[in-house]
Amino acid sequence: MIDCVEIGNARLYHADARSVSIEPESVDLIFTDPPYGHNNNSNDLIGNIEKALSRLGRGQNPLRPIANDGKEADDLVRWFFSNSKAWLRSGGCCCCCCCGGGGPDPQFARWSLWMQDAGLFFKQMIVWDKGPLGLGWHYRRSYETVLVAQRDKMKCNWYDKSGCVENVIRPGMHGIRKMIPSKEEHPTEKPKELAALFIRLHSLPGDVVFDPFMGSGSTGVAAASLGRKFIGIEFDKRWFDLACRRVEQAVSHPIFESRKAPVMGLLRQTRFREVNRKLKS
Ligand SMILES: C[S@@+](CC[C@H](N)C(=O)[O-])C[C@H]1O[C@@H](n2cnc3c(N)ncnc32)[C@H](O)[C@@H]1O
Repeated sequence: MIDCVEIGNARLYHADARSVSIEPESVDLIFTDPPYGHNNNSNDLIGNIEKALSRLGRGQNPLRPIANDGKEADDLVRWFFSNSKAWLRSGGCCCCCCCGGGGPDPQFARWSLWMQDAGLFFKQMIVWDKGPLGLGWHYRRSYETVLVAQRDKMKCNWYDKSGCVENVIRPGMHGIRKMIPSKEEHPTEKPKELAALFIRLHSLPGDVVFDPFMGSGSTGVAAASLGRKFIGIEFDKRWFDLACRRVEQAVSHPIFESRKAPVMGLLRQTRFREVNRKLKS
C-alpha cells in the first residue's frame, strides 16, 4: 500500500521505493542514504553501544534494525542507481551517502562502479571527516563518504560561486556535526546540514530534490528549509511519521536562508578573493 502526504512543496510517500512511480526527467537532484547492507542496529556495534550507555528503559528492545539492511540491500541499491539517470533532468546529480567506506567490504568501490554501470558519470567521492574518535581497534572509521555522479557527461548543475569547494568536509564545517541518535531518533540519521550542503551546490530554490530512502527525513528538512520542492519515500512507518513531523516543522519554521548557492562562509570567500587578487598582481 502506498500512503502519500503533501506538506507545503514536499510530497512524502510511505511505501517501498520500488513501487512508487517517479516521472522521468522530473528531478533536479537526488540526495539519499540507502540501507548499506550492514544489518545496522540489529546485533551490532551501534546496538551494543546503546545497550552499554543504558539509553533505553527497562524491557525496551535495544535493537532498531533498518529495513532491507541485509544482503538484499545490494539489489535495492542497484535498482536505485539503474533508475536514477531516467529520473534526473539534464544537469542533475545523484549524491549517495556511502558510510565509512565499508570497512573490510570496499563498498564505496562497488557502489561507484554500479553508478557507472547504470549510465551515470561518476564525479567525486566526498569525504565527511567526522573528527577524532576515542581509543579503539586498528583503523577506526572517523569519516563517511558521499558518492556524487552526474546524469550527463559534460553537464553538471553547480551553483557555488566561491570556487573553493573541496572534496573533504572538515570537522564542524558548514555546521555539519556527527550525530549520536537518541532512542527516539533514527539510528542512522544524517545531519540536515550535510544534505543542505549538496542541495545548495547542485540545485536552486524551486528545484526538485528527491530522496527514495528518506528515513527520518533529513533531506526533506534541508530541502524544505531552502525553498526546494521535495519528494521523499520511506518504507518503515515509524520513520515515515517522524519525517512528516520534521518536514512539517521545517516548512513552518525555515531554518536556512533561501538564497542562491552561498556555500562558503563570508570570511573564507573574502580570503579567497584576497589571495586571488595577490596572485594576479
Ligand atoms: C540509512 S537509512 C536513512 C536515514 C536517513 N538518512 C535519516 O537521516 O534519517 C535508510 C532508510 O531506508 C529505508 N528503506 C529500506 N528499504 C526501503 C525501500 N524499499 N523503500 C523505501 N525506503 C526503504 C529504511 O527503513 C531506512 O529508514
